[in-house]
Amino acid sequence: MNKPAGTHESYAARFVSEIFPERYKRGALHGERYTSADFFAREWENVWTKVWLVIARTAEIPEAGDFVVEDIGPESILVVRQEDGGIRAFYNVCQHRGNRLVQPAEGSMPSFTCDYHSWTWGIDGSLVSVQDEGDFSEGSPCGTVRLEEMKCEVFAGFFFVNMDKDGISLKDYLGPIWDRWQVYPVENMTRVQALTVSLPSNWKALHDNFSEVYHFATVHAPYLDYLEDDFRDISCEIFDQGHTVMHMKGGLPSAHYLDSDLPPISEQLGAELRRWDLDPADFTDRPTETRLALQRQKRTLGPARGHTHYEKMSDSQLTDSHHYTIFPNFSAGMLADGILFHRLRPHATDPNQSYYDVFYYASGDDAFSSMSTAAGGGLAEAEREYVAFGEKSLGALLDGDVGTMATQQKGLRSRGYRGGVLADQEYRLAFYHHMIDRYMAGYRPGKP
Ligand code: FES
Ligand SMILES: [Fe+2]
Repeated sequence: MNKPAGTHESYAARFVSEIFPERYKRGALHGERYTSADFFAREWENVWTKVWLVIARTAEIPEAGDFVVEDIGPESILVVRQEDGGIRAFYNVCQHRGNRLVQPAEGSMPSFTCDYHSWTWGIDGSLVSVQDEGDFSEGSPCGTVRLEEMKCEVFAGFFFVNMDKDGISLKDYLGPIWDRWQVYPVENMTRVQALTVSLPSNWKALHDNFSEVYHFATVHAPYLDYLEDDFRDISCEIFDQGHTVMHMKGGLPSAHYLDSDLPPISEQLGAELRRWDLDPADFTDRPTETRLALQRQKRTLGPARGHTHYEKMSDSQLTDSHHYTIFPNFSAGMLADGILFHRLRPHATDPNQSYYDVFYYASGDDAFSSMSTAAGGGLAEAEREYVAFGEKSLGALLDGDVGTMATQQKGLRSRGYRGGVLADQEYRLAFYHHMIDRYMAGYRPGKP
């Protein structure tokens, strides 16, 4: 099995050596995890309300009063830039009689007035004015009632919220990822693609998919000309809070691809080589050397071409895909010049549905990477689009990932499904389910 390159925490190490083979290799992932309303309700109480959840980028709300609203399961979360430059997050609910306070997904307001009886809330969550203030014989609620707040902290230009008031800090929650991401110029990136797709599947089904590459040879065959998917050549790390990272070599044809009759240097890889002043013809007889050649060229030419962040990156970070999953619903493909951001959000009530947010963040003016799905050229900030499953292509790579969601969800509803048989290389996925099981059993981050 492709054992972790390094497990940083003792619990994660024990998972790989003992817990995975004993408890998760066969029969642990029953369909009810994805289909049962009871499981869904317990998962909401024990996982979603106890963890840090990524919401958006600080750059999206630069001025006081700028806000974003994101729905996660049954909750709607309102995040607002404050007068002092800070950011606060609130449950998006009016404390008078429970009307949802803010309807638009984003905007800018000096205060928030409820549509029902016009109670007006300041951007800091205080109650500013109420209708018929003299009709409250116990005294005006202004100054005593506030919007209900949740924790909000910033990492790498993204703000995260946590509904658990006793939760650990975001830095402690992220562990080694906090430092790892410092080399990526996240704060200077532009969101060049932003789609939200309604999925006919449980949120975990697609997150599972992002936790393994076993599906690559089947559904991503065209990308094997650029990424090594051989399980013997992939390394993963897993961290105590449920986060993981998988390192996949890029900038070279995979062993699977070289077994085919296709030309060893594909059009896509050839274009990348030319972009870095290399001649694809020089590699026809030694195609696996393209990765090192690209690393050398990027190291030499990159900073002068504006990729100054390359100076802080390892050789591997210049060509490879470092795919992080941040528990429970965020994953990010960290590339040399961009991030493929994937987030799953549960439906408000139905375990058989969810929402998939796929954003592509790019840096530099030639940020198009042959590993990305973004259309090349130009770095305009993309408007977020909301689309139904199958309504719009997400690009060849992600269409492969999303394509099986409807049929897999149907299969998971079958009483004939026996709960899974996992390959060794799927332990990263199993670790993620194990963390859900631990939370369901009462585990809380930072607590003994
Ligand atoms: S519910 Fe909001 S003002 Fe009445
Ligand atoms: Fe995939």
